[in-house]
Amino acid sequence: MKAIVLRKNGGPGVLQTQEVKKPRPGKGEVGVSVRFAGINYAEILSRKGIYGWAPKKPYIPGMECSGVIEETGEGVCRSRVGERVMVGAKYGCYAEYVVVPDNNAVPVIDGFGYEEAASFLVNYMTAWVALFKMARVGRGEKVLITAAAGGVGTAAIQLAAHAGCEVYGMAGSPQKLELIKSLGAAGAFNYRDPDCFKNLVAATGGVDAVIEMVGGDVFKKSMVSLNTFGRVVVTGFASLDLNKWSPSSWLRTWRDIPRADIGELARKSISVMSSHLGYLLDSEPGKMSQLYDELRGFVLEHGIRPVVNRVFDLEEARLAHEYIESRQSSGKVLLKIGR
Ligand SMILES: NC(=O)c1ccc[n+]([C@@H]2O[C@H](COP(=O)([O-])OP(=O)(O)OC[C@H]3O[C@@H](n4cnc5c(N)ncnc54)[C@H](OP(=O)(O)O)[C@@H]3O)[C@@H](O)[C@H]2O)c1
Repeated sequence: MKAIVLRKNGGPGVLQTQEVKKPRPGKGEVGVSVRFAGINYAEILSRKGIYGWAPKKPYIPGMECSGVIEETGEGVCRSRVGERVMVGAKYGCYAEYVVVPDNNAVPVIDGFGYEEAASFLVNYMTAWVALFKMARVGRGEKVLITAAAGGVGTAAIQLAAHAGCEVYGMAGSPQKLELIKSLGAAGAFNYRDPDCFKNLVAATGGVDAVIEMVGGDVFKKSMVSLNTFGRVVVTGFASLDLNKWSPSSWLRTWRDIPRADIGELARKSISVMSSHLGYLLDSEPGKMSQLYDELRGFVLEHGIRPVVNRVFDLEEARLAHEYIESRQSSGKVLLKIGR
């Protein structure tokens, strides 16, 4: 089968398509013929060699995809063959075929096409956990989402708006601000504007929760924009650019990585939290499957659909990574793989 195999870390050019042996499902596993793979920012960090949850090289990257179950392993009901599924995985989805544990392949949500199905699991589960399990946002609360036009960001805007929150988004271009507002945000701000946070506080009087995915100054200013009892959930830090071979980048990373001082938190009675979907799936598979059922019900009730931005062919994975890294993307970027 055709797959991208990550043999060494580096720039987007290391993503080369190769012929590799098609895997077969073992006990408790299913084999899925892939239609679309969703690209996640974590795969860019893994490609660079700076992502803690990445497997050991060589491996096929790709944490999610949509497709059809072609084969089941021992102990898995044969009736699953032919089922349209959404797959969540640690790796393996930039390929024509992937083998995962039975539980990692869930039926495609009613009404979703294969593109939407490959855009759902990572972004919406991450946003659901951050909003409702960590920040525990409620109806009428003011919620700020940073990197709001991205994959997780667009999911978070939709979920928070449908939950009755007053949602604000931040992103890096006028087109992205328009997208954020079209998804239900009450306001959108460009963090390339030095007055961005001043304008946010002037418009809102301060926010009750922030889902923060940028790091550096954006994290620091998010803390300042919080109301009493406010919560920041650090879900990522896309602006950090750690290069293992450049000591000056170690210094910048040390400076920009989000951290909090207990004294400062106490003065305003605010909190900083963090969550990571991968570690949660490793440690709490039962709870995560319960959370998935809640999320699925909410999405069906509110008719929420993922924002698909652009589709590249598998052979163009390099271009797809470049597109996201250059901050041109909004919503989800996919690789088209199957028929
Ligand atoms: N904790 C978890 O479990 C979890 C799960 C999934 C993702 N994440 C994290 O959540 C964040 C968003 O992930 P995603 O997959 O949805 O990606 P994405 O938001 O679609 O793409 C990343 C976005 O980050 C923003 N950004 C800000 N500064 C940047 C910089 N210096 N270089 C590149 N991009 C920059 C860009 O938007 P603007 O140009 O609008 O700023 C860019 O579009 C990432 O930090 C990711 O690691 C965490």
